[in-house]
Amino acid sequence: MTSVSMTINGGPVEAEVEPRTHLADFIREHRNLTGTHLGCEHGVCGACTVLIDGAPARSCITYAVACDGAIITTVEGLHDEVSVALRKAFSREHALQCGFCTPGMLVSARDAVLRLPEPDQREIRVLMSGNLCRCTGYVGVVRAVQSVIADRRARGIAPEPGGGIAALGPAGSAHPAGSQTSSARVRTQPRAEPTVSARRESRPLEEWRPHVTMEQSFTVRHPPEAVWALLGLPEEVAACLPGARLVGTPTEDHVEGLLRVKAGPIVAEFSGSADIARDVSHYAGMIRGQGRDNRSGSATRGEIAYKLSPEPGGATRVNVTVGYTLTGMLAQFSRSGLIQDVANRLTAAFAQNLEARLAVGEGRPPSAPAPAAELDAASLVWSVLKERVRSLVRALLGRKTRG
Ligand code: FES
Ligand code: FES
Repeated sequence: MTSVSMTINGGPVEAEVEPRTHLADFIREHRNLTGTHLGCEHGVCGACTVLIDGAPARSCITYAVACDGAIITTVEGLHDEVSVALRKAFSREHALQCGFCTPGMLVSARDAVLRLPEPDQREIRVLMSGNLCRCTGYVGVVRAVQSVIADRRARGIAPEPGGGIAALGPAGSAHPAGSQTSSARVRTQPRAEPTVSARRESRPLEEWRPHVTMEQSFTVRHPPEAVWALLGLPEEVAACLPGARLVGTPTEDHVEGLLRVKAGPIVAEFSGSADIARDVSHYAGMIRGQGRDNRSGSATRGEIAYKLSPEPGGATRVNVTVGYTLTGMLAQFSRSGLIQDVANRLTAAFAQNLEARLAVGEGRPPSAPAPAAELDAASLVWSVLKERVRSLVRALLGRKTRG
């Protein structure tokens, strides 16, 4: 057990917690503040969003011990003018049905009201896109937030660029160990997010380490020479990847392109470039690239290493190692264990498309439909979740029948 002390909804709290206890469990089970809801416990749905030192944060992926010295505000503690106005607006605009997502929605909506200069629908949707609603939808939520922003601006209340948030960075980072003297201490200067170009300048490619690395492999029923030749054609590779499109004329070792990714209400279009290196003597290749979506502020950097090896019957085994770092709004989809399942499905789609292109190269009709115009990350995540629930139910029923 570890001792923590923090301020929750204005009151001092001291407790002994298991290091593994996340903040949402601590708030709900130790403090009985059950307004903070738990949906996915993977940092995806936003139901557990609370304020940590004034910044909205997922309490399900924040350890309680990381919040030592922090100021936590849950939905029960939101009594400021903006929160009161939002509650009324949510009722008036029918922005909730079952209300499960509402506590997290209110925390994020308050942040949107404080920060957005105009009641612009698109901006509100982007800011609220980390909160998923499974029964009502988003039209009422957007209208409610719009109305509160419009009212405040009409009354001459200016937006706060930082939304009153005193510290950015991982939850709890405002209270480094050893320098904590008061549970009410908060950084006063927002920390600027370095731009992609600044990151690129300050960290050469050799020093970069991906946040996520995973290995995939698949087999295609074509010989290594044919697969190798096709993987050497950037247009063909892009055609196998859902959502990918080349821009301009690719060369042997460099491509520029776009990748459209859809995640719930967010549609991001990453624009970027990649360098390609291939070693025919080992049938091995490496692709290193980076891209940025200006609308969602998401950026990614990654590398894909692949190696082909012959399989019996003239087939080819393709082993792929993918490493990447994703920052910005879409980063929520790179935090959970679900990403491995999503990657498995993407790899399967890529393999199927590759097989189809190879068949076309041999003058046979394609065996798979054309890849989708965008990569639907949210539907992949939900389909993985559904499959997991189904397996759980099957396992439980099986246990019952056996019992
Ligand atoms: S429960 Fe925390 S994001 Fe879903
Ligand atoms: S109101 Fe039911 S999940 Fe949003």
